[in-house]
Amino acid sequence: MKLLVIGSGGREHALAWKLSQSSRIQAIYLAPGNGGTSRTPLLHNVDIQDTDELIEFARKEKIAFTIVGPEAPLAAGIVDAFRTAGLRIFGPTRDAAQLESSKEYAKAFMLRHDIQTGAHETFSDPAAAKAYIARQGAPIVIKADGLAAGKGVVVAETLDEANQAIDHMLGDGSLGPAGARVVIEEFLSGEEASFIVMCDGRHVQALATSQDHKRLLDNDQGPNTGGMGAYSPAPIVTPALHNRIMREVILPAVQGMARDGIPYTGFLYAGLMIGPGTDSQRSIKVLEFNCRLGDPETQPIMMRIKNDLPTVFEHALNGTLDQAEIEWDRRTALGVVLAAHGYPGTPRQGDAITRLAPDTDERMTFHAGTAWEQDTLVTHGGRVLCVTVLADSVRRAQQAAYDGISLTHFDGRQYRNDIGSRALPPVKA
Ligand code: AMP
Ligand code: GLY
Repeated sequence: MKLLVIGSGGREHALAWKLSQSSRIQAIYLAPGNGGTSRTPLLHNVDIQDTDELIEFARKEKIAFTIVGPEAPLAAGIVDAFRTAGLRIFGPTRDAAQLESSKEYAKAFMLRHDIQTGAHETFSDPAAAKAYIARQGAPIVIKADGLAAGKGVVVAETLDEANQAIDHMLGDGSLGPAGARVVIEEFLSGEEASFIVMCDGRHVQALATSQDHKRLLDNDQGPNTGGMGAYSPAPIVTPALHNRIMREVILPAVQGMARDGIPYTGFLYAGLMIGPGTDSQRSIKVLEFNCRLGDPETQPIMMRIKNDLPTVFEHALNGTLDQAEIEWDRRTALGVVLAAHGYPGTPRQGDAITRLAPDTDERMTFHAGTAWEQDTLVTHGGRVLCVTVLADSVRRAQQAAYDGISLTHFDGRQYRNDIGSRALPPVKA
């Protein structure tokens, strides 16, 4: 069978790589893919962005089904367009994707369906926003309402920082329509976890838990990024907490969408803030919903799936996800992102990638912002590579990932040295 994967990141490389291990796969096309996917066996890049042309391509190549990686095409309605054309595609419709594409929609949805999230207000007037900030005090969180590629969130430690974020988002128009409104949210403390499920409209299959590292620098310093590394499983999500998250967040969300007349199909990603205490005491609050897989969470998650992955997607497309049994490798998977010089601001492009760690069963380098210039692999985006490993413990996984990093080189590379550290067992005093 032939499949089509939309996107060009490390998430899409990892997804296509895992799909390609099925003996049923003839070819997987990535639109547009990256420098890594163009040289992975069975994977092929196609340089098409336009939805109508993608539909034509899927028809011509007799694509069995399409999977959408990033949020932008989902928010633009690619799933609706493929379905109207009679083609099979996995992802949420444009209406359902509002759970991610509008923070205001997501907040109203959570309130309506009794899903816990931080207290918030929405503003388009800078003066009113600042007055609210003055009343609430700092720390406080400012979020652009629309899609801003992970860069629309400012966790302000001080009132000054908060007011500057308002000037930046509502004042100078630099975020475009995404910044026309801001959501101002209560600061939540605790530990974050990514909880991602597959939905077929009625049934839900949870993927392995994971945790990413959003800040650029070690010890969670520096600006927010799309994600600098991730690991799976997230030890904070014990079986008891897993049950609570399903009961308190995931099932109310999926049932709520169905009740609202917008059945949810696709990946649903809940970014959670888990408060302190015992498992039954901990608060579980939703920071955000995403209507897709996480990047880089997908890279470690794909290393751990043991199933024939196309079969799982077929269950999702047939409405029989309740019959899919996903089996997970018990080991820890951990991925460290190598980002380009200048990321997350203005990443430099064109640095030659002079060394790559050889891929093995326990170590894969997934590509994101890479491209070929004649026969030279060069940087071509903010997040460039994600060295992802499988090992028996978090500590061993860290070691293996950083061994892989030491075999990888391009000028200006940036990476964090502490991916996975929060998952290490506490040091005994
Ligand atoms: P989001 O895109 O909404 O997930 O926000 C990006 C990152 O900002 C999150 O992963 C958190 O680290 C942080 N963040 C978002 N909302 C809050 C909040 N209410 N309190 C504390 N940190 C937050
Ligand atoms: N790594 C966070 C995200 O994909 O949204």
